[in-house]
Amino acid sequence: MELNIVCIPGDGIGPEIVAEAKKVLNKVADKYGHEIKFKDILMGGASIDVHGVPLTDEAIADAKAADAVLMGSIGGDTNTSPWYRLSPDKRPEAGLLKIRKALNLFANLRPAYLYEELAAACPLKEEISRAGFDMLIMRELTGGLYFGERKTTTENGVRRAVDTLTYDENEIRRIAIKGFEIARKRRHKVTSVDKANVLDSSRLWRAVVNEVAKDYPDVTVEHMLVDNCAMQLVKDPAQFDVILTENMFGDILSDEASMVTGSIGMLSSASLNDTKFGLYEPSHGSAPDIAGQDIANPIATVLSAAMMLRYSFDLDQEADAVENAVRQVLKDGYRTGDIMSEGCVKVGCKQMGDLLAQRI
Ligand code: IPM
Ligand code: MG
Repeated sequence: MELNIVCIPGDGIGPEIVAEAKKVLNKVADKYGHEIKFKDILMGGASIDVHGVPLTDEAIADAKAADAVLMGSIGGDTNTSPWYRLSPDKRPEAGLLKIRKALNLFANLRPAYLYEELAAACPLKEEISRAGFDMLIMRELTGGLYFGERKTTTENGVRRAVDTLTYDENEIRRIAIKGFEIARKRRHKVTSVDKANVLDSSRLWRAVVNEVAKDYPDVTVEHMLVDNCAMQLVKDPAQFDVILTENMFGDILSDEASMVTGSIGMLSSASLNDTKFGLYEPSHGSAPDIAGQDIANPIATVLSAAMMLRYSFDLDQEADAVENAVRQVLKDGYRTGDIMSEGCVKVGCKQMGDLLAQRI
């Protein structure tokens, strides 16, 4: 099979971790007889430095023409980087929002689970983590507060800023369907998270989720208020299978969920549209403080590449091979600094990539 993959190395540790994911994908291609064509495009700070904007139309066209996009991470230190002295629409994150919208990537899947081998890194009390947990956050990605009208004005010397949170029922329905479909492949439970005790957009969200639920009688649906969900994630994470939620709540809850695993450097994500096309990226950020030192953990990006093989190319066997390689490397006792524990062998980013590729 021919795989046309556009890569966005991006900023910070992005280029290092993407290089290792490519290494692993090339090994997969060799072993299973595929031909991969990689093309790199610039986004975020890397694009600002060259083009003055975080994402060019040409880069979007390249991404659109590919079968899938593999991304590292974008952005820098918001306190010190000159990128953050630009107007908000010219900053690195604007590129990410633009590509999500341009490619209609409305469904963001963020799995968060406790690795047996890394259970000691879980910051929760042992009596809570003992049960293990395995959840998937299905975050709406192209609507809500992120894409509503916004403005800052000054009236009579008083500054005022407005952001708007809008959803129409079609936007809610299509993400709800994705949530229920994926729950069918997992443990058949959807927890829809909203703030229906205050927000109209949440009341519509809840109503539409209930309508969609009628088509999935085999899936249990429950509704949870977002503040309660934030509590439940640390109190009893094992209760969750699929968490279905809007853009802003999903942004916050997915960081919380990844933190309770204790191993954010291990978590992948996929952003999908209505076709097989997707953008795959690690759940963590660009970590500018450790960039260029060959100490970043490439596993989240490698696992994002596995998600790409599974969702965009239907190559389940190959995806399994990548996920098994990760499990095997952990079993063999190799760790990057972020997940290091006593008795293990500490390795850098490149060596971790080599070890993973060897196990394909
Ligand atoms: C994420 C990030 C982005 C978001 C930022 C970088 C714009 O936090 O992917 O979760 O808020 O969606
Ligand atoms: Mg976020």
